[in-house]
Amino acid sequence: MEKRILGRDLEVSEIGLGCMGMSHAYGTVSTEKEAEALIDKAIDCGCTFFDTAEIYGTAEDPHHNEKLLGKILKPYRNKIVLASKCGIRFDETATTVNKPLIPDGRPETIKSSIDGSLKRLNTDHLDLYYIHRIDPTVPIEETAGAMKELIEQGKITHWGLSEADEDTIRRANKVCPITAIQNRYSMMYRDYEKLFPVLEELGIGFVAFSPLANGFLTAVYNSHAQFEKPGDYRSMMPQFSDEGIEENKEFILWIKLLAEEKKATPAQISLAWMSAKKPYIVPIPGTRKVSRLEENMKASEIKLTKDEVKAIDEMLDNIPMSQVFGGSKIQKK
Ligand SMILES: NC(=O)c1ccc[n+]([C@@H]2O[C@H](COP(=O)([O-])OP(=O)(O)OC[C@H]3O[C@@H](n4cnc5c(N)ncnc54)[C@H](OP(=O)(O)O)[C@@H]3O)[C@@H](O)[C@H]2O)c1
Repeated sequence: MEKRILGRDLEVSEIGLGCMGMSHAYGTVSTEKEAEALIDKAIDCGCTFFDTAEIYGTAEDPHHNEKLLGKILKPYRNKIVLASKCGIRFDETATTVNKPLIPDGRPETIKSSIDGSLKRLNTDHLDLYYIHRIDPTVPIEETAGAMKELIEQGKITHWGLSEADEDTIRRANKVCPITAIQNRYSMMYRDYEKLFPVLEELGIGFVAFSPLANGFLTAVYNSHAQFEKPGDYRSMMPQFSDEGIEENKEFILWIKLLAEEKKATPAQISLAWMSAKKPYIVPIPGTRKVSRLEENMKASEIKLTKDEVKAIDEMLDNIPMSQVFGGSKIQKK
């Protein structure tokens, strides 16, 4: 698989692996054996970029994902780029499927979070450490200052922001240069394309999360899809609702035809489309199944021309589609 550079110098595979679903948000949690098979396959496919977060876990084990990766990635640690996130916690009192998020960007929180993540991930440094959500009650300069200190201490080598807007990116970047933002981005959620000029101006990479619109863009889910309640967030996502499936009918038919033309799958077209858009975009699709992982990684073999991307964009501007999941509610500290 080809490599891409995020920010000034962070080299990652063209497609990364989002590891959240192995522990959180999509129902049944992966066993250690299953997760090991996934990671081995990802490495085999040339993937060198792995994404986790402090909060990806289960009710019984809130840091399940970092612990799992800490064990499995150990033999590969020096060959991969390991990214995690801090700066939010769940509102554990909530009874909704997806619990609201409480941002906490205080320097003291970040400094204590990194030590926990390093321990669980079995490593002495992270290659990329993101602020998971922006805390409106803490000036971003203070949060960025804490990240700068972590870099000076060698606990992290690069940092970034997740779900950040232009103003926050600019202010944070002045304190300590940002390597990447990690925002929602897919054929069904293109709002952050407005950030492309600022990312280009400042030399910042774009890591695309939920690049398959939470799996919807694989075109394998219909109105009969059963999602586990309460663990699977898809049970309440608009794109998977009966109305959403109906609204997206024409769109799904179109992407299936497009995939057929390119001898690819809809998931691969979705990923290849964003990779062809900008050299600094890196999608991190998630899956718990080896066959799907291989399918997603092989999207790197599908190259779309600028004209093909333009034609797809025109279609996306005009074809009816439903809303997609926009993220969990943000609550004040
Ligand atoms: N920064 C943030 O706030 C944030 C938020 C969300 C996610 N993320 C990161 O981004 C990563 C990816 O996002 P995501 O997992 O939400 O969404 P995604 O990658 O768009 O979709 C993942 C879902 O699609 C299914 N899937 C994947 N490949 C498939 C294929 N080829 N065919 C059929 N189904 C397929 C998976 O199901 P199976 O597991 O059953 O295969 C899973 O339910 C996460 O793992 C996480 O690391 C970050």
